[in-house]
Amino acid sequence: MEKKTVLFVDDEPNILSGLKRMLRPMRRTMNFEFAEDGPAALEVMAAKKVDVVVSDMRMPGMDGATLLATIQDQYPHAIRIMLTGQADDESILRTVSVVHQFLAKPADPELLKQVINRATALQDLMADERLKEVISSIGPLPSLPETYARLQQVLRDPDGSLADVAAVIEQDLAMSAKVLQLVNSAFFGLFRHIESPGRAVNLLGLDTIKALVLGVGVFTDMKTVSSKIFNVKALWAHSMATAAFAKEIAIQETDDRVLIDHTFVAGLLHDVGKLLLFCRMPEEYEQAMHLATGSSCSLLEAEQEIFGLSHGDVGGYLIGLWGLPGPVVEAITFHHRLHSYPDPGFGPALIVHVADYISYRLVPDHCIGEKPQLDEEILDQAGMLDKIGQWSDLCAELQEKNSDR
Ligand SMILES: [Fe+2]
Ligand SMILES: [Fe+2]
Repeated sequence: MEKKTVLFVDDEPNILSGLKRMLRPMRRTMNFEFAEDGPAALEVMAAKKVDVVVSDMRMPGMDGATLLATIQDQYPHAIRIMLTGQADDESILRTVSVVHQFLAKPADPELLKQVINRATALQDLMADERLKEVISSIGPLPSLPETYARLQQVLRDPDGSLADVAAVIEQDLAMSAKVLQLVNSAFFGLFRHIESPGRAVNLLGLDTIKALVLGVGVFTDMKTVSSKIFNVKALWAHSMATAAFAKEIAIQETDDRVLIDHTFVAGLLHDVGKLLLFCRMPEEYEQAMHLATGSSCSLLEAEQEIFGLSHGDVGGYLIGLWGLPGPVVEAITFHHRLHSYPDPGFGPALIVHVADYISYRLVPDHCIGEKPQLDEEILDQAGMLDKIGQWSDLCAELQEKNSDR
C-alpha cells in the first residue's frame, strides 16, 4: 500500500524536533513533513499530496483553526487533527466542524500513532470505488439537519451562551417536543419532569442534547414511510436504546467525558446507513431484507450481495461528510466488523458493537432484520469479554425502568 504522508504544524521548533525524534521508528510506514506556520504548511500541501495534517492551535499569524478551515476547503480529502493546550476551550468550540479529532498537548506518541492509523484506515475505506458508486447512485446526500447546523453556528460564536443554545432548540417546536420527550424517558434517569430545553442542557450537558437534536433531525429529515418489513419507528427505538446502553457502559468504565459523548452519538446514529439506503433505494433494501429472512445469510451478507457494502459503510460515510468527530465516524463504520478496525480496544467502536448486541437481545423486534453477533475473539483480545454479563445486566435494568415509565 502507498505510504501515507503526515504533516505536522507547530510554531515551536522544540516541539517539532521532539516530534521528529518520536516519529523516527514510524518512518518505514509513513512519510513525515514539518512546517513552522500556516503559510509554510499550505506550501507543503500545494507541493505534494498530504493525507493527514496535525496542527497546533495557537500560532502567531494564521492560527490552527484558520489553517485547518482553509485545508478543509482546498484539500477536503486530508484528515485534520488539532493539538490543543489546556487554555483552548473556547477556540475548540469554534473549530469543531473543521477538525477530525482533537488531541491534548503534549501528544502521547502511542495515542498519536493510533489516531493516525485509524484515520487513514477510514480514509482508505471512504475512497473505496464501490462505496463511491453506491453513494453516487443514492443521489444528493441529505444535508446536516437544520436545527443542528444552527446549534453549531451558535457554538462557534465566542459570545454564544447556553441560553442561546436553548433558544435555537425552542424555535423548532417539533424538535423541542421530541427532545424533551426523550430527555424525560427513563433512559436518562432524571427524577423530575423537565419542561424546557434550557433545563435539559443544564442537567444532561450540551453534548447529549446536541446528539439528540442530531438524531431526531436525521430521522425527521429522511422522510420515509415504513413498509411491511422496514419499520422506521422501531429503528428509532433501537437506536435510542443502543445509545442509552452504550452511554451506560461507557460511564461504568471511564470518566472520560469526550469518550462518553462520542459513544452516545455513535450509538444513536450507528444504523443511519440503513435509514439512508431504505429511504433512497427502498426496493433494493427490501430485497436485501427478504434475502436475509428467507435464507441463512445475515442482513449484512445480503447488503453485501445487493449493494456491495454494508449499512455501516454508508452511515459512516454520511456522518464523516457532516464533519462529526473521527471516533464517532469510526464507531458507525465498524460496528459490525470490529475485526477490521485498527484499534479495537475499549472505545466507542467496541462499546457500540456490544450495545447493539445487547439491544438486540433485549428487544429483538426493534432490530430491523439484523441479528448482531458479538465478536468474542476481539472482545477477548481487548480484555473485555468477561465484562459482557455485567454490562448486559446494567442495560437490562435500564430497559426495565424504561418500559415501566
Ligand atoms: Fe447495524
Ligand atoms: Fe443496530
